[in-house]
Amino acid sequence: MRLTILGGGGFRVPLIYRALLADRAEGRVTDVTLYDLDATRLAAIGRVLAEQARDVPDAPRVTATTDLVEALTGADFVFVAIRVAGLEGRAIDERIAAAEGVLGQETVGAGGISYGLRTVPVATAIARRIAESAPDAWVINFTNPAGLVTEAMSRHLGDRVVGICDTPAALGRRVATALGADPHRLRLDYAGLNHLGWLRAVYLDGRDLLPALLADDGALESFDEGRLFGAEWLRALGAIPNEYLHYYYSNRELVAAARDAAATRAEFLIDQQRRCYALLATTAEPLSTWSVIRAERDGTYMAENRAAAGLAPTGRDHPTSGGYEDVALALMRAIARDEPATLILNVRNRGTLGFLDDDAVVEVPCTVDARGVRPELVGPLPDHAAALVCSVKASERAVLDAAEHGSRASALRALATHPLVDSVAVAGRLLEVYRQRFPELAYLKATVPRRSP
Ligand code: G6P
Ligand code: MN
Repeated sequence: MRLTILGGGGFRVPLIYRALLADRAEGRVTDVTLYDLDATRLAAIGRVLAEQARDVPDAPRVTATTDLVEALTGADFVFVAIRVAGLEGRAIDERIAAAEGVLGQETVGAGGISYGLRTVPVATAIARRIAESAPDAWVINFTNPAGLVTEAMSRHLGDRVVGICDTPAALGRRVATALGADPHRLRLDYAGLNHLGWLRAVYLDGRDLLPALLADDGALESFDEGRLFGAEWLRALGAIPNEYLHYYYSNRELVAAARDAAATRAEFLIDQQRRCYALLATTAEPLSTWSVIRAERDGTYMAENRAAAGLAPTGRDHPTSGGYEDVALALMRAIARDEPATLILNVRNRGTLGFLDDDAVVEVPCTVDARGVRPELVGPLPDHAAALVCSVKASERAVLDAAEHGSRASALRALATHPLVDSVAVAGRLLEVYRQRFPELAYLKATVPRRSP
């Protein structure tokens, strides 16, 4: 079984490899191919993996290449984990948005749109290349904004591309702990888009435990989302939102916090990763260094978000388990061994949310086995949630249209109609500055506006 990782020089690859090393079962991954544009990062990560594999019998073989076709040929699974314009680009997204008084978060609002506008053309080219060079491979997209990028790729790969995120499963685990229940026995009724979903029911043997949880202040106080949103708001919603909904429900406070922050999230990560890759190039002890830096990184996860909510800057239930790599591995295992599993994934809607068309990528519980990934039936979303999902999906569709037709008008529409961008003039200035700062956006032309679809 051969796994190819696009973005193989990335910071999270050692976590994926660690999960692969722990997998001893039949049908496991035996070969890993790392692909990256940056040979130096590839070499640094290659060193970490070699260190991890030491003393592990039958560790998956690792090869590295900067040739995309070579990387894809013969792959059974392809992970797509790229970052167009790097963390430096993410910092530009954040700063420009902050200067206009709107959110520049990686996946939400103006920042997510800018990131989407430069990522979709690259992800589309990759999807086309995969369709040619590895037509039977399963493609697992980690690249943010994950829902939007998965939808762009699905136009070329159909249902063979699946987008993943760790936040729905992490929410499920935290809720299970708060309920004192075994997470494997719970069925989560969760639906929406990536980073825009709501947990509306939690079934144990057919009985919904969420109403009791919502009624229990102590239990709500015991986990992240309970504290982040507060008991009163959760009861008013009758659901538990994904942690990223905080950017919508506390937009004003978070914009103010971003304005006052000394460093943005990307600036923090740039500094940390620079130190990390530099250490890897010089030290003989890559692994111990790596773990220290990982812990530091996770401790500050969503720090600005939490600080604005008056929470301590730590918050992950368990920084080193249950992340992306575990969702990805569970998905590969269910497909490769035909062991049916239910996972919350980003897939084409196919009738699941009645107010969206079949091709819209949504984040919902799915049944996974050797035949592929199929969304399960979910209950209807309440009006306020459906309205937000429709509005954000319309903005995503405008990004896809901008990328497909090179249309600056569509890019403007993506920004101006997003619920977290409150002025068309602001959207116009954002687009102008993003275009100046990112050569990747040169494809956007001032063509005659296409009629809004
Ligand atoms: C969560 C989100 C991801 C995001 C990650 C890291 O896991 O689900 O989509 O990439 O956090 O965020 P960071 O700010 O550490 O890059
Ligand atoms: Mn995510």
